[in-house]
Amino acid sequence: MYRTHNCGELCKKDVGKEVILSGWIQKKRNLGSLCFIDIRDYFGVTQLIFSKKKLIDKNFLLGKEFLIKIKGKVVERSSVNSIIPTGEIEILVKEIEILNSSPITPFTIENKTDGNEEIRMIYRYLDIRRNPIKKNLISRHNISLETRNFLSKNGFLEVETPILINHTPEGARSFVVPSRIHMGKFYALAQSPQLFKQLLMIGGIDKYFQITKCFRDEDARSNRQIEFSQIDCEMAFVDVNDVLIFFESFIKHLFKKIKNIQLKPFPCISYSNAMKMYGTDSPDTRFDMLFVELNNLVQKENISFLKEQELVIGIKIPKCHNYHDKMNYLKKKIKNKNIFWIQYSYDETSFSSNSYFMNKKMIKIFIKYFKAVPGDLLFISYGKKKKSRKQLGKIRLEIADYLNLKNPNVFNPLWVIDLPLLKWNKESKKYKSMHHPFTSPKEEDIHFLEKNPENIRSKSYDLIINGTEIGSGSIRIHNKNIQNLIFKYLGLSEKEIESKFGFFIKALEYGTPPHGGIALGLDRLINMIEGGDDIKNFIAFPKNNYGKDLMIKAPSTLEKKQLKELHFR
Ligand code: AMO
Repeated sequence: MYRTHNCGELCKKDVGKEVILSGWIQKKRNLGSLCFIDIRDYFGVTQLIFSKKKLIDKNFLLGKEFLIKIKGKVVERSSVNSIIPTGEIEILVKEIEILNSSPITPFTIENKTDGNEEIRMIYRYLDIRRNPIKKNLISRHNISLETRNFLSKNGFLEVETPILINHTPEGARSFVVPSRIHMGKFYALAQSPQLFKQLLMIGGIDKYFQITKCFRDEDARSNRQIEFSQIDCEMAFVDVNDVLIFFESFIKHLFKKIKNIQLKPFPCISYSNAMKMYGTDSPDTRFDMLFVELNNLVQKENISFLKEQELVIGIKIPKCHNYHDKMNYLKKKIKNKNIFWIQYSYDETSFSSNSYFMNKKMIKIFIKYFKAVPGDLLFISYGKKKKSRKQLGKIRLEIADYLNLKNPNVFNPLWVIDLPLLKWNKESKKYKSMHHPFTSPKEEDIHFLEKNPENIRSKSYDLIINGTEIGSGSIRIHNKNIQNLIFKYLGLSEKEIESKFGFFIKALEYGTPPHGGIALGLDRLINMIEGGDDIKNFIAFPKNNYGKDLMIKAPSTLEKKQLKELHFR
């Protein structure tokens, strides 16, 4: 028998019991003739007390992370450790057995470790012994379990779909797998189950979900992995509102259950308004600084260098102290950009970074328009619509970081809806789907298809929390002719449509129900709920930012024989 109890459960009521425990040595310290050892397992830490003689007699040289089994008696501790649940007791050890030894670990297995990310990824199994990573995996389990329970209770059926499929146009590159049996042919790893979940709806499944792995050959970042998980969902006979209402209730349920946080109703904001007010399609609304359009003002006041600009916009940063520091910090960021600032100092003097064009009178005009008070700072961005919005959006986020406005205890979810159906791709000189080609256009916008396809809005929606895209989905095209038309506008020839999507177009012919769905990024959702700053910390064995698994050293080369089997010379 390895244990009668685990290392996290013994307490005062167990005093006097004879117990057996097994665990890894976390800490060891000597005090006169006594030796204190903390052992750790999945459940917690327990302090052991030995007579040194016992250890020396047995010629034991115990090091950190040695796995030991002990027999002993639970006794009350003289100095209580109130931080840990077992802090009132210790075990007076009578027998000890080394179950396994350990070399010196490459980093300390403590909550705060001295190991950098690289070394921790090489020895991920040791990293998982640390509480922060272990807790994250437990949280992942709880969130996945809660997801399964909630969706099942609401009539969703979990169905597994294939991973080895053909390339689907999800917007990223696919990982491809050469076929041994079919020379010159390749599978692609699923970027998402998109087409399969739609086929399930055609197959008469009413509501589907799956917690599934997706694979995308793209550059990894703090919220992006090449191998990640989605809570993928689809519902038949729904329109946009049905999906938004249901998934709002799901997200609220998760936050309440996991964190005891009651989220407020999720506001809905159109893509075009999000761009106008925040300069991004994933706005962080924990802080204001909404964009103010200034074109009318500069026309009226005849401010010549701004009058001709396609767009002039600004933001006000209230009560902004330490101008000097901030300006030095931001100067580098906005160098050579069509941006300037106006500072309205506490002594009521004012100054513009664009002293060449901005005279005192103009500065006053802006201050008055923004109803600025001494201590406020204004940023003005101008130029082409897209660019000026994007750059002011970036400045807004930089300032929020700088002023610590991104409160980690506040969660502001919102829906961004009505995203454009298509965007123009300069390189390929073709339209590309903003979401994916199976997204339904809004009926009232289809007439733009001939002359102004970029104006078509789609029945799509993104779930944004604190500026991060957590989920994305749409109502799908369920009419064969419209699907064909969209494929054509994406530049696919009849032949390509047939070879890539023939099976799907065929399926659409058989009484396809109206349907729609969403996929939530599971790793991102957990990272958000737990207030993390990198999804890697919530994945047991993640890849690094170069797509490498540093522990197993993947990707790796193949032997000649294997290459030959796969028809590579
Ligand atoms: P989309 O491509 O927007 O939609 O993905 C849905 C959600 O998945 C998460 N996500 C990622 N998470 C980590 N690493 C990545 N590389 C990564 N890429 C995406 C994001 C994102 O919001 N089939 C459609 C969904 C649908 O229409 O139902 C799809 O996959 O949180």
